Amino acid sequence: MPKPDLYRPEAFAMPPGIYMDGNSLGLMPHAAKRAVESRLADWAELAVVGWDRWFGLSEALSPALSRLVGARPEEVIATGSITTNLHLLLPTFYRPQGQRRHLLATELDFPTDLYAMRSWADLNGAELRLIPSRDGHTLHPDDIAAAITGEIALVLLPTVLYRSGQLLDVARWTAHAHAQGCVVGWDAAHSIGAVPHQFHDWDADFAVWCSYKYLNAGPGAPGGLFVHERHLGTVPALRGWWGNDKASQFKMANDYERGEGAGAYQLGTPPILSLAALEGALEVYDGVDLAQLRARSLELTGLLLTLADEQLPEMQVITPRAEAERGGHISLQWEHNRQVSLALRARGIVPDYREPGILRLAPIPFYNSEADVRGTVQAIREIIDSGEYRTVGGGSAVS
Ligand SMILES: Cc1ncc(COP(=O)(O)O)c(C=O)c1O
Repeated sequence: MPKPDLYRPEAFAMPPGIYMDGNSLGLMPHAAKRAVESRLADWAELAVVGWDRWFGLSEALSPALSRLVGARPEEVIATGSITTNLHLLLPTFYRPQGQRRHLLATELDFPTDLYAMRSWADLNGAELRLIPSRDGHTLHPDDIAAAITGEIALVLLPTVLYRSGQLLDVARWTAHAHAQGCVVGWDAAHSIGAVPHQFHDWDADFAVWCSYKYLNAGPGAPGGLFVHERHLGTVPALRGWWGNDKASQFKMANDYERGEGAGAYQLGTPPILSLAALEGALEVYDGVDLAQLRARSLELTGLLLTLADEQLPEMQVITPRAEAERGGHISLQWEHNRQVSLALRARGIVPDYREPGILRLAPIPFYNSEADVRGTVQAIREIIDSGEYRTVGGGSAVS
């Protein structure tokens, strides 16, 4: 198959203006809409008989998904959200024993990861320890290394930190944690679809991700999980009928028979219409060279860094500058950035904003160009120079 062009805005529903928020909610690929419409048509036409087409849909997405995370198809499954998947995986993978009983995360994690980890620490009378950050934005390798001790049963790390965009070295920290006898899981929310992974070869025990960001599968789309093949013989601690062996699921036996692969971690009936959006969204990645996608992303974020340095001296770039240490977005911090973000939106430029004062900008190779990057930086400059940010109103609880 010939390689498709990376830059394909015509494959997406492009809102007017500039969209730089694909790290929060990716734009809708037309293929996602078509896939949902087709599944809706199945429902209209076939009603319950439609299950002949929908049964096994989650598993059917595994080959495409597994390529994005560097896994074997049987090691991944599209299911749940990051939060539910963490709750699903932790009771299987967190096995406290003697002194080795605590959980480890980082103080810069997305809150839901900490809530899930603390739930399981509390249920087991253990501690949730947090790797500290020296600068409030990034993690220092010495601090990661120091926190991984013989008292830790399980470590959960983000591949890319959601605020600063720091990319961690998954292979290095997985090997390091294993050498200390810990189980290691990864939250790949901010890397899947933007950064190539090799979860199988890197030997991660498990990983979770969502698909509404770089994967463009839509709001609340099913996320996914990876379980390394060496764990696929283990019966999940939390079980549901959708994780039963597919061949015997409808025999309705009282005893659970472990399904094949990571699919055994599914619980109940999958949301077929949302899965259809993911099914369509994955088509965008068909034939895409992930190394080329990453190289283009680095070019765009590199340009953004250069322009921010030249034109936005009041803002602090909190994303690491080294290519090997940054994900798909660049984060700029300034005390007035919430207002800057609202003023950008008023001009038709959609950035992403996170407290405290962090503007996240994600130029997406599929639908953003150099002109978008330049236009965004220029607009920020004008908003500051004109004082527009002081008077802009609006905003909501989520933006
Ligand atoms: C790193 C990270 N983890 C988890 C989540 C959210 O998890 P869920 O898919 O359960 O809503 C996000 C959402 O932005 C995130 O950035």
